[in-house]
Amino acid sequence: AIDPEFEQSYEQIGENDDVAIWSPDGEELTEEKQGIHGTHVAVDFDICLADGACLEDCPVDVFEWVDTPGHPESEIKAHPTHEEQCIDCMLCVDVCPVDAIDVDPS
Ligand code: SF4
Ligand code: F3S
Repeated sequence: AIDPEFEQSYEQIGENDDVAIWSPDGEELTEEKQGIHGTHVAVDFDICLADGACLEDCPVDVFEWVDTPGHPESEIKAHPTHEEQCIDCMLCVDVCPVDAIDVDPS
């Protein structure tokens, strides 16, 4: 499961579309190691296996597919592109079969 304390244990190394990218050891990410994307709505790309329930169920369409060719779990991931629209309903957290998502309402 995603580490709910990732803001302490990971290092932010950049951003994509204003969505933060976090690396577990602060090192540059690779095709095989994608880190966590997002802060309010955080998706651990190294756990996500492209189930898609989060995209289907989010009532405000926070997520968009992004390509991650070469990643061992899946070659697309749920990117929290519109995390600022999140209404903290927690549906995505509940439906993800591999607990790849952390939503922090604070
Ligand atoms: Fe969407 Fe609800 Fe998840 Fe926020 S908590 S990203 S609104 S499903
Ligand atoms: Fe990935 Fe879980 Fe969504 S596996 S696509 S974060 S439901």
